[in-house]
Amino acid sequence: MSVITPPTDLLRQQDPKMADVLAGEAQRQAGSLQLIAAENFCSPAVLAALGSAFANKYAEGYPGARHHGGCEYADLAERVAVERAMALFGAEHANVQPHSGSSSVLAAYAALLRPGDTVLAMGLPYGGHLTHGSPANFSGRWFSFVGYGVDAETGLIDYEQVQELARAHRPKAIVCGSICYPRHPEYSVFREIADEVGAYLIADAAHPIGLVAGGAAPSPVPYADIVCATTHKVLRGPRGGMLLCTAELAERVDRAVFPFTQGGAQMHTIAAKAVAFGEAAGTAFTTYAHRVVANARTLAEALESAGLAVTTGGTDTHLICADPAPLGIDGLTARGRLAAAGIVLDTCALPYGDQRGIRFGTAAVTTQGMGEAEMLRIAALFAAALRGEGTRTRAAVGELAGDFPPYAA
Ligand SMILES: Cc1ncc(COP(=O)(O)O)c(C=O)c1O
Repeated sequence: MSVITPPTDLLRQQDPKMADVLAGEAQRQAGSLQLIAAENFCSPAVLAALGSAFANKYAEGYPGARHHGGCEYADLAERVAVERAMALFGAEHANVQPHSGSSSVLAAYAALLRPGDTVLAMGLPYGGHLTHGSPANFSGRWFSFVGYGVDAETGLIDYEQVQELARAHRPKAIVCGSICYPRHPEYSVFREIADEVGAYLIADAAHPIGLVAGGAAPSPVPYADIVCATTHKVLRGPRGGMLLCTAELAERVDRAVFPFTQGGAQMHTIAAKAVAFGEAAGTAFTTYAHRVVANARTLAEALESAGLAVTTGGTDTHLICADPAPLGIDGLTARGRLAAAGIVLDTCALPYGDQRGIRFGTAAVTTQGMGEAEMLRIAALFAAALRGEGTRTRAAVGELAGDFPPYAA
């Protein structure tokens, strides 16, 4: 089985303990099935940029206006990343500095809102992210969040409810985006509702942005005032965030990132984002993005046939949420049984009821080269693992993973 080895023998000589830890993680990733919907395998070129000399560089500020010296190459790297992001998404402005998806949301709020403002977002029990008003998060502490839900029968966003809540609460901003909604938000409907009540529209596209890049999902860019995103999910870049916005909001967004919510830009990550955007502009990425969705549809259908209750009855994206209750188990038990078989995924909130479900996605296995035949194999292994046949299934999972090494030896 092929794994990513630590970058040099030097690490093993200097720090064998950490070399073992890194090798163990690489082995874990390559030897099991990574179905966490937010994860992927970024390319060796992206990894090279992450481990480059930019890891040493401080670069507070923006290209041409830095607080540190020696930024000529940092400026070049950031300009390339920004230009590529703008071209890839057809955006008037991009900020590639947010350290994470959460940082991008924090900066979007900082650009548009004042503490105490009302924000309408998907409620946490239905799939809103922590940054959409959780009391444990800055968002719930500093803003007054109102949550919309999904239709009890279909699991789809109830746009009439969104409109009613917007009319009743007159929010300063409406957020569309979720951690586990497997369908495309109707961005034009959100825009109409936002316009009707004079609210900003923030699209938190942390999950679908990679599908948008590959033309496999509609883009929020023409509709939202600000789009928040991560670069490490379907988009297959380094762990990080990004903001896209109109030219009109560019200065406010930039100031909201630095100096308001962040200090020095992480230049190694920004360089890696530039590499990932370059990859995402190619035709191979478009093919991959469409395969991610086709694979997710096949997997969702096969698992529904195996008895799982798939929320919304399927998926239009990379992401699937399911309730294993028809099999007599809850999400936590399901995750444990699947983990024992080497199938790695998350639990998630389900729109109704107290039990947790499971959430998984097809980006990483698609990057490995798996197609619809392998999705059917995964569904069979999944079903066997859920029946408690973990040990027997583990060997078959290892074999399947071994046939599709994420990185060449
Ligand atoms: C909708 C949404 N927003 C924000 C985030 C936060 O991203 P990060 O974990 O990079 O902070 C996530 C992460 O999964 C997400 O799904």
